Amino acid sequence: MQRSVSGFSKRTKTEKIEWIVEQHFEDPEAAKTLLTSYWHSDPNLQDKHDEFIENTLSNFYLPLGVAPNFLINGRYYTLPMVIEESSVIAAAGKSAKYWANKGGFRTQILGIEKVGQVHFLCREKAQIVQNFFDANKLELINSCSALTERMQKRGGGLLDLQLIDKTSELEDYYQLHATFDTQDAMGANFINSVLEQLADQLVIIGKQYAPFSAGKEPLEVVMSILSNYVPNCLVRAEVQCPVNQLEPEEGMGQKTFAEKIIQAVNIAQVEPHRAVTHNKGIMNGVDAVVVATGNDFRAIEAGIHAYAARNGRYQSLSDAFIENDVFTFRVDLPLAVGTVGGLTKLHPMVQWSLDLLQQPTAKELMQIIAVAGLAQNFAALRSLVTSGIQKGHMKMHLLNILNQLNASTEQKKLALEHFKNNTISHTAVQNFLIK
Ligand code: MEV
Repeated sequence: MQRSVSGFSKRTKTEKIEWIVEQHFEDPEAAKTLLTSYWHSDPNLQDKHDEFIENTLSNFYLPLGVAPNFLINGRYYTLPMVIEESSVIAAAGKSAKYWANKGGFRTQILGIEKVGQVHFLCREKAQIVQNFFDANKLELINSCSALTERMQKRGGGLLDLQLIDKTSELEDYYQLHATFDTQDAMGANFINSVLEQLADQLVIIGKQYAPFSAGKEPLEVVMSILSNYVPNCLVRAEVQCPVNQLEPEEGMGQKTFAEKIIQAVNIAQVEPHRAVTHNKGIMNGVDAVVVATGNDFRAIEAGIHAYAARNGRYQSLSDAFIENDVFTFRVDLPLAVGTVGGLTKLHPMVQWSLDLLQQPTAKELMQIIAVAGLAQNFAALRSLVTSGIQKGHMKMHLLNILNQLNASTEQKKLALEHFKNNTISHTAVQNFLIK
């Protein structure tokens, strides 16, 4: 029977572990040994990790792999990818090689604008609120100068401020809609600090604005927060080649292959069930690089899926077409990422990943991440419209099954050979091992 606990966060790490294992595990000693065996051997490094979050007990490993041979805008990259799913890195590598001798991946930044909002209520007439905003917009912006000065020196800052009247959707509801350029930072702290300053100033000047009715609080701020929906922080990744330069696929002409890919994309444009899985494949690549580079994958996921639904229906993020016998495959992704601040300086493996990528700017990282997404999507569709997904997937999954069944190194070697020509399933592997 589990008990509740008070003052847990104030306990030392060892005390927390003692309480947890005693309360929740049949074999407390084994549970404790497992936790502590995942501590880093360098206590300073472990302390760093402990301080990322609250109530840290240990570390939770995910594999870091790499996918080489990515030719992006004429330059080769090796992508760092943190992911638990087998096949993803193999697929990335295959796509990278596929396109490297066809001009590689090309990318384009379509926008870098980030967004934050002060959500507030006002019971005054809409025109009076608009007049108030117009008269005080500059003062609102100027009130943030101490906060924005450093970012401005780096070439960024608060780009614009708009009043949005949302009263037709929710009674008395308005927004200050702010747009930002945060340069190489993801910018969450910067944006939220500016928004809170705007909110404070809004209330102060609202109280002094004579046309507002006297004797009551004219403006009520509900909250101030950045938005993870960033449709104007957008990057495009693209591959392109004449149809007759596509690789020959088993039993399928190049034109048929290209048309099947286009059909697969078109299905994901009109069918949300398929679109979700199609986009999940893109996110396999996106998230793996986002995590490896210390960016916030929940923010990226939320923003990208909202973008996929921007037309009122959840659709494919990628697009494919043939024009003048040239096959084009592309993806547009909103990606608010950073290469400075946040975890980037704190987590040694994040620094390693950024070093591997030659210390990219945030714009370069946006492009690399979009390419990772496009490469995954191409690899998945290529399998799906030709041999099917299971052939390649099960091959990679074989090792997982063998590890689950505690196969020895020798058994693994034999099994990998045997299953080159035999259908893989959990039972088949089990039977092979007891033979
Ligand atoms: C599996 O992780 C991803 C795929 O399902 C993507 C897709 O179906 O396009 C293979």
